[in-house]
Amino acid sequence: MSATTPLYDTYLRAPLRFERGEGVWLIAEDGTRYLDFAAGVAVNSLGHAHPHLVEALKAQADKVWHLSNLYEVPGQESLARRLTQVTFADRVFFTNSGAEALECAIKTARRYHFAKGHPEKFHVITFEGAFHGRTIATIAAGGQQKYIEGFGPKAPGFYQVPFGDIAAVRNAINDETAAILIEPIQGEGGIRLASKEFLQELRALCDEFGLLLILDEVQCGVGRTGKLFAHEWAGIRPDIMAVAKGIGGGFPLGACLATDAAAAGMVAGTHGSTYGGNPLAMAVGNAVLDVILADGFLEHVRDVALVFRQGLASLKDRFPDVIEEIRGDGLMLGIKAKVPSTDLLAAIRAERLLAVPAGENVLRLLPPLITTAAEAREGLARLERAAEAVRSKSGDAAA
Ligand SMILES: Cc1ncc(COP(=O)(O)O)c(C=O)c1O
Repeated sequence: MSATTPLYDTYLRAPLRFERGEGVWLIAEDGTRYLDFAAGVAVNSLGHAHPHLVEALKAQADKVWHLSNLYEVPGQESLARRLTQVTFADRVFFTNSGAEALECAIKTARRYHFAKGHPEKFHVITFEGAFHGRTIATIAAGGQQKYIEGFGPKAPGFYQVPFGDIAAVRNAINDETAAILIEPIQGEGGIRLASKEFLQELRALCDEFGLLLILDEVQCGVGRTGKLFAHEWAGIRPDIMAVAKGIGGGFPLGACLATDAAAAGMVAGTHGSTYGGNPLAMAVGNAVLDVILADGFLEHVRDVALVFRQGLASLKDRFPDVIEEIRGDGLMLGIKAKVPSTDLLAAIRAERLLAVPAGENVLRLLPPLITTAAEAREGLARLERAAEAVRSKSGDAAA
């Protein structure tokens, strides 16, 4: 029996075929232009075809693509040095994806306790609604049955507690606990923010019990909230952090960052990756940082975020029958719909605006960080027309 596609059926794809991108725009094969406020699910941090990134990739492509980690890779040294200069971290391990960055983070935490003579401390406390990736360990860390089912026994050592419930975290800590792992803003879970106080309390609990605090900033990091990393708003420092998506601006790149102390167990031979830290990814990652760390860039993100946030708040006031709540921080925003979010998404797409579904009936807006105030207003105008369309459709249905 031949299938209609030779591809796995694992993705529910929209029937859209894009040929190229320009800044915040994606252009379909038939020439239709879409305003891309999905940005590859927070990946295209600098939009599409950013000239500085294109130039960096092309220049590296002319030199060398792949070396392996048998040798020194200068781009790794420079990108790691820059990341450690602007974060809590002393050490960096490069990966190709978010899930691999999380795998490295979990392994780093377990090895930390192992190296200190406590191999029994390998349990990680995680949170309901979390998403950490699709590997066997990260589906266990995320704890969502829909991703775990059918893939054999859940990997041991991961315990979920309710998001934001500090008493539940304290209760879950025992002699086998190694670390607490949290997304400062849950993305797939529905743009759910951990409060500053909660993050501070988690830091304090980790200090009290000798645990490592691991942050998953794969989606909320790299400028998305208007600071380089979301946890900076809470004034805390993690021990380990997983980063990906925006750091590569569309090129596959992830990183696990750690303090010297947390990374102490990761000695030669304990971890590795064929492609992790390859010269092409390093060239692009360095180019992304050139832009994001430039004077005024994060301020620009905060300014545009404000325009967006105010516009969304006013839409919520005008369409209380369509929009229940606006969530998020910076350019990581969520519209909790009152109607089925699939209806709103379809209406938004009909306006040639791209958004991303998430849990709790939320639609995510994750515009590229280079979005201008005028482009944000264009997006808001499209959202307004979409809300009108949904309202009149549900009015028709009621009539
Ligand atoms: C918070 C978070 N962690 C981890 C991942 C996994 O990243 P990847 O798909 O690159 O493996 C994602 C992907 O959506 C994510 O949003």
